[in-house]
Amino acid sequence: MEALLSVLFSSEEEELFILDCMAYFMVLMAVCTFFTLLFENVPYGRYTTSKYGFPVNSRFAWFVQELPAFFVPICLLVWTSSVKSSLLPNQLLIAMYFCHYVQRSLIYPFLIRGGKPTPFASFALAFVFCIYNGYMQIRYLSHYAEYPAYWITHPCFIIGSALWLVGWLMNVHSDHILRNLRKPGETGYKIPTGGMFEYVSGANFLGEITEWAGFALAGHSVHSSAFAIFTTVVLASRAVAHHKWYLTKFENYPKSRKALIPFLF
Ligand SMILES: NC(=O)c1ccc[n+]([C@@H]2O[C@H](COP(=O)([O-])OP(=O)(O)OC[C@H]3O[C@@H](n4cnc5c(N)ncnc54)[C@H](OP(=O)(O)O)[C@@H]3O)[C@@H](O)[C@H]2O)c1
Repeated sequence: MEALLSVLFSSEEEELFILDCMAYFMVLMAVCTFFTLLFENVPYGRYTTSKYGFPVNSRFAWFVQELPAFFVPICLLVWTSSVKSSLLPNQLLIAMYFCHYVQRSLIYPFLIRGGKPTPFASFALAFVFCIYNGYMQIRYLSHYAEYPAYWITHPCFIIGSALWLVGWLMNVHSDHILRNLRKPGETGYKIPTGGMFEYVSGANFLGEITEWAGFALAGHSVHSSAFAIFTTVVLASRAVAHHKWYLTKFENYPKSRKALIPFLF
């Protein structure tokens, strides 16, 4: 891995420059995605379509597409010098990232009940995104990010970490509620109730957006901010689309429920 990085980059300055460029490019992609999603839903789950390639089994798709988000960072930590990974702020941020991706890539796919197949293009894009983001987040945190010794007592770190934890718990709990709407073998849709679904249609998305916004606040870098912005664009659009879909599908859908932000939106 170290040899691969030294083939790709002539110096550490160059690699850091590329990591920064990757973050700015992700923000640019978020802007493009925002405008694209005004006209089209992300084509998987209830919006799956054959227009974007052959169908990939949902469990297989989630497991394979998310695996690089776990595997690439593990390779970086084990097989590169990772000089900053012994520092506490870096360790805590890396732990937040792994906590999410151990659940998302190694546990979540095997709990899915009756998920719709994912079109190949969505699957391939998610796979590439996980390699890109996994390298960008963990290479920056493990080798370049420098925080002052007091950073873990700074309000940004404390509030960011708390938001990350609340968001992660909300995301896992909401995905659990959705999963249990179906009995084994069922594939249809029901009105979700309980937890944050009492307030918003996209409770799992609100959890994940909160999680990465907290991570960005605690990490205070363009790399973590770019990821939070990209996630917000994709998942806010999905929450709005799901909300409209529920309103047309179920006459008895709770009228006070919002799309993404309780009581507001
Ligand atoms: N960080 C990011 O950029 C990013 C991007 C995408 C997703 N994610 C995360 O990945 C997770 C899954 O995302 P998703 O877009 O697949 O969420 P989703 O559309 O809410 O679906 C989640 C699962 O629940 C099922 N489901 C949803 N609503 C249901 C209902 N009313 N009745 C019965 N079953 C229902 C879906 O089945 P069907 O497949 O049959 O619809 C699917 O298996 C979420 O936690 C999300 O935050 C993160």
